[in-house]
Amino acid sequence: MGEQKDMLEESRQGEALELDRGNGTKTGKKLYIESYGCQMNFSDSEIVASVLGNEGYTTTTNMNDADLIFLNTCSIRDKAEETVRKKLKAIKHDPNKKENVKVGVLGCMAERLKGKLLEEEKLVDLVAGPDSYRKLPELVDDIEDGQKAVNVLLSREETYDDIQPVRINSNGITAFVSIMRGCDNMCTFCVVPFTRGRERSRNAKSIIDECKDLHKKGYKEVTLLGQNVDSYRWSDDPGLRGRNLKEAPRKEVIDFAKLLVMVAEIAPDLRVRFSTSHPKDIIDEVMFAIRDYKNICNYIHLPAQSGNTRILKKMNRTYTRDWYDEKVARIKEVIPECAISTDIITGFCSETDPEHQDTVNLMKKVRYELAYMFFYSERPGTLAQKKFEDDVPEVTKKARLKEIIDIQTQINKELNEAEIGETYEVLVEGVSKRDKNDLRGRNSQNKVIIFPQESFKLGDFVKVKVEKSTSATLIGKAVEKVTY
Ligand code: SAH
Ligand code: SF4
Ligand code: F3S
Repeated sequence: MGEQKDMLEESRQGEALELDRGNGTKTGKKLYIESYGCQMNFSDSEIVASVLGNEGYTTTTNMNDADLIFLNTCSIRDKAEETVRKKLKAIKHDPNKKENVKVGVLGCMAERLKGKLLEEEKLVDLVAGPDSYRKLPELVDDIEDGQKAVNVLLSREETYDDIQPVRINSNGITAFVSIMRGCDNMCTFCVVPFTRGRERSRNAKSIIDECKDLHKKGYKEVTLLGQNVDSYRWSDDPGLRGRNLKEAPRKEVIDFAKLLVMVAEIAPDLRVRFSTSHPKDIIDEVMFAIRDYKNICNYIHLPAQSGNTRILKKMNRTYTRDWYDEKVARIKEVIPECAISTDIITGFCSETDPEHQDTVNLMKKVRYELAYMFFYSERPGTLAQKKFEDDVPEVTKKARLKEIIDIQTQINKELNEAEIGETYEVLVEGVSKRDKNDLRGRNSQNKVIIFPQESFKLGDFVKVKVEKSTSATLIGKAVEKVTY
């Protein structure tokens, strides 16, 4: 889920992670791990770092220093996989890498391509799917013995709930907390149900414990992560787990609305965010929780994918345009200050120009604070690939994409201009990239605000008055520090 300006690119790419711990049997060995794709993958890399940290691996941000190179990969669009292939080839031909270095592919591409990855030009020694990270110590032992290793078993239960993620590349202020894995939705364009397996929720107590621990360590914001957070469901009663859980009445289970409240009640100075909401699943109680708890941020990522009912049906999104419009209206009614963002796909199978115009008019109507926009990329094995023809020419897909990007850029400019004069509470997350005398933070609506440092520091909550804006950023001046 990338930055606005990178919308034609894949999401966050190629961030190397560094940690320094470990006292196991592999002391002295170094791991380099690079993550691609969505926040779930970045969060999983923290699990991987933890599992191998216990074996004595320390991580390095210098690939040439590593004994083990892992790429945690994404399959969501063809381009995401292309990027990884290029990287694997670059690693193979890098004259500066360590002599006996081993290379592993983790994540969604590992799951999708399985053993085939080992055959491709001998670029890879290890292939590990998203549910196999507990097995990494054994898999690494195998490749150190000169064998190839593959584990792509998907699980119905694995949530890594007892593994304490090692926070890497962390600002010490904001953290991701995974609350569920997998997806049962079967949108026809999407590869995720095949790469991540069945949906399962993580033990609520372990989520709360992790958030409490983060707060104790000085963190000020947690983002609860899942492909479809609104279908989170947990019960301590084993009889209610599995299939029965979905059918159980709300009052008998911990659902997402209740979980949100439980996390919000940990402390008033711990902000809570979440991603992603499926429009079919978000219920009033979630909106009430946002309204009633100041520390639950006024921001909902509500991917529409298309503004046209026929295309939505063909995508198997299970809502209509009217339903989506009503959800947005309901959110604005319950939480008037709430920012809404979206994901859009242009040029899905058989999409006509008038149908594309429905997406255009959706965007003009909702006026999203943020939109991640993509042209349709057919993925092998998905229902769309099996059943429908990928018949919208690439030039048309790209022209439609450009049209909506231009509209969204204009909307962002107008929305940001309208912010001038407003005052927001901002959580300071870092120093501005452009000027180290400025601080960078976000308001509850997830908008980035830059302001002069004065005596404020990382982790402070500061009221900031907006004075200037661009289409991407707000620039302001501190009014006062907020104390809790
Ligand atoms: N679980 C989230 C989406 C995760 S994937 C949800 O349901 O909203 C992130 C985004 O990638 C999707 O929302 C969709 O807009 C985009 N995407 C998924 N598959 C795609 C494909 N085959 N081609 C282009 N974009 C795709
Ligand atoms: Fe993919 Fe749909 Fe699941 Fe999102 S809800 S991960 S788009 S199948
Ligand atoms: Fe990509 Fe897998 Fe996430 S396909 S978007 S890394 S769930």
